[in-house]
Order: sequence, then structure tokens, then C-alpha cells
Amino acid sequence: MQYATEENLTDLAVQRWGACDTPRFRQIMQTLINHLHAFVREVELTEEEYLCAADWLARAGQISNDKRQEFILAMDVLGISMLVDSINHRFPSAATPSTVLGPFHIDGSPEMEMGANMAVGVKGDACFMTGTVRDLDGAPIEGAELDIWQADTEGMYESQVGSDEPWLRAIFHTGPDGKYLIQTIVPSEYPIPMDGPVGELMRQTDINIYRPPHIHFHVSARGYHSLVTHIFKKGGRYLDCDVVYAVKERLITEFKKMPPGKTPSGETSSKSFYVVNYNFVLSKKKS
Ligand code: BEZ
Ligand code: FE
Repeated sequence: MQYATEENLTDLAVQRWGACDTPRFRQIMQTLINHLHAFVREVELTEEEYLCAADWLARAGQISNDKRQEFILAMDVLGISMLVDSINHRFPSAATPSTVLGPFHIDGSPEMEMGANMAVGVKGDACFMTGTVRDLDGAPIEGAELDIWQADTEGMYESQVGSDEPWLRAIFHTGPDGKYLIQTIVPSEYPIPMDGPVGELMRQTDINIYRPPHIHFHVSARGYHSLVTHIFKKGGRYLDCDVVYAVKERLITEFKKMPPGKTPSGETSSKSFYVVNYNFVLSKKKS
């Protein structure tokens, strides 16, 4: 029988957590204990700091619900979400890079026809986004689904504006030539939610709290790895200091300003509008 001391405590805890139901759970728990103990030893955590951390965790849990995930937001700002995303999406380099899902995706968006406007009645500059979904060999993928969501010009997503109707989100499909066309508004930069425990942490730093302007995409097709990504507006603010580390160079795309006239959906606009061209590339699942 060995009693715990400062020196042997880590080994004892790792040994005790060897009694896990599966090898993977054991690996995760024992590695976690090793890293957490090393952290506590390295910073020599005080009792006050220990209680402060416990209180922060309790409050992060209390503020979370089905529309708000404070722990995911914490992992986003610590770079953990992007690290998990990178490890889990090591696709061939020609495939479109993935990036974090973020906390504002809502399932079951309305399906819209090619070229439809997912921003009817929303203030902002009209933006037509067009391109193709193809495989790694360049073959067009017909019927690929593009689930799209974004914030309004104030940086608010549907769950934040509390809209009863779908707000700035829709599902589109590619045609036989792999092409898609959507109408929306030009996205703006916005800060992450700062009214909770994550905001409390951020306010004790000089870290930028803004996300650069972007539109979210979840592109999927049968037989292919689905892709969760963003399209970032070239020249937008905060591209070099995104608070959640989600920017990848190949996702930065030009939003080209066009004079009044015929739009990509064939209508005539009396105002200027923007056009974005982006071609998505999906990689095949191994059969
Ligand atoms: C977003 O893009 O919507 C987002 C992602 C991570 C944290 C906060 C917001
Ligand atoms: Fe976003």
C-alpha cells in the first residue's frame, strides 16, 4: 500500500485511472492526468487560483444551453477547436481546406432554388456567390449540398437576433455541371460573445476579439468527405488576427464590386452589387 505524497501523486493517479473500460478511454484519461498534473506543478497553482478556476468552469456551464456553448467558445479562443479540426481533416492538399464550425450553425435550414436570395429583407450590400463543387480529379459533383449561414451587418446570427423565421441561412444544391449560385449580403466583421466567462478572460488581455468577415459553408455529397469551412472576404479586417485562428490563405476570396446592371441571377440591379467566385473541391471517401 502506497500513500500519496507530492512526489508520487501523479503516478498514483495515472495508475488508478488505468481501470478504464476501453483502451482509448484509458489513454485519454491517463494522458490528461499527466498533462494536468504537470501544469499544476509547473505553475505551482495556488488554492485561490484553483477555486477561481472551479468557479469559472461552473459559470461557463450555467450560461451554456442548446444555443450557447461557452466551453466550445473557450476552446475556440484557446486554439483547441482549430487544432482538433486540423488533426481530423488531413485531406489531400488540393481539397478545399476546412475550418471550425463555430457556435451558430442551425440544423434544418430551408432549401432554396439555385440563385435564390437567402437574405430577403436583410440590410446590406447584395452579394452573389457562384462557383462549382468538384472532386480532386476536377469532375463536377451534381446534387452536392451547400448549407450556408452568416451574420448580418451588425454581426448578429439568427440565434442572437431571436428571429422566429430562418435568418441568413439556407441550403442550396449544385446543378448537373456542379455549379451553384446563391444570393446573400456581404458579411461584416463581428466580435465573439463577450457577455460570459470567456469574455471575462478576454478582457484581461489585449487579444483581438473580432472575427474577420466570412460566410460559413457545410458542403456535402454522397461518397465524399463533407467539408465545413468559411469563405473570408479579401481585404477584410482581422484576417491576420482572427480570434479563433480559423483563417487559411486559400479561403480568402475577392468580393468584387460590380456597377448597377445585370446580376449573375439574370435580374437587373439598380444598385451596385458584389460577386464572389469560389470553387469547392471535395475528397472521396475510401470505398
Ligand atoms: C463564428 O464564426 O461564427 C464563430 C466561431 C467561433 C467562435 C465564435 C464565432
Ligand atoms: Fe461566423
